[in-house]
Amino acid sequence: MSASSLLPDFRSVSYSRVTLTELMIPGYANFGGKIHGGILLSLMDKVAYAAASKHAGTYCVTVSVDGVDFLQPVEVGELVSLLASVNYVGRTSLLVGIKVIAEDVRTGLVKHTNTSYFTMVAKNDAGQPTMVPGLILDSPVDTRRFLEAIKRREFKQRYQQDFAAVRETLTGNQQEELLAKERCKFGY
Ligand SMILES: CC(C)(COP(=O)(O)OP(=O)(O)OC[C@H]1O[C@@H](n2cnc3c(N)ncnc32)[C@H](O)[C@@H]1OP(=O)(O)O)[C@@H](O)C(=O)NCCC(=O)NCCS
Repeated sequence: MSASSLLPDFRSVSYSRVTLTELMIPGYANFGGKIHGGILLSLMDKVAYAAASKHAGTYCVTVSVDGVDFLQPVEVGELVSLLASVNYVGRTSLLVGIKVIAEDVRTGLVKHTNTSYFTMVAKNDAGQPTMVPGLILDSPVDTRRFLEAIKRREFKQRYQQDFAAVRETLTGNQQEELLAKERCKFGY
């Protein structure tokens, strides 16, 4: 146990693994008759919260969402399951990996719709970020995911730095050559 609280110093990946399953009802559909992306995002946020808070033993907030690409539409009547596990922990932050699958309940056919990553931060009762237990990696898969999370974090930091530098150059009409290839024209 850590000195500052009753929380353990480490918790296993399996301790906080969560699956959330929900039937897609007609009220969740968009104008095209498919399930609204926002419904799926809301479910992902819920399951990320559950996994993060179980691991942290505290309230958690969502800080960042990565890799939300809906690869296939989800249909009304499908049973959607969101499988979440803590892939990585920092000091106060946790990366939760979420795999979303949708099952046609009549045929049993299962499709993988997306895998996304939610960064959550644990907060104490005063609303300040608070330290989370370390992670016990239960399997080689957990270790791979932990290592991937380190690399994902590095790539993201590098991307943010590179983009910030490029952004400085995107002023005035200096990018006419680039814009000439795109479907736009100046309206000013
Ligand atoms: C996220 C938040 C707690 C960061 O607060 P802060 O005072 O800047 O705290 P810190 O700089 O110590 O960062 C805390 C952790 O968040 C991580 N973090 C901060 N911004 C991040 C980002 N954009 N992406 C990923 N991680 C981030 C930091 O790396 C740090 O992790 P670590 O402790 O594991 O090293 C604060 O900005 C916040 O409360 N945001 C609102 C969250 C919220 O309300 N979410 C719901 C959305 S509707």
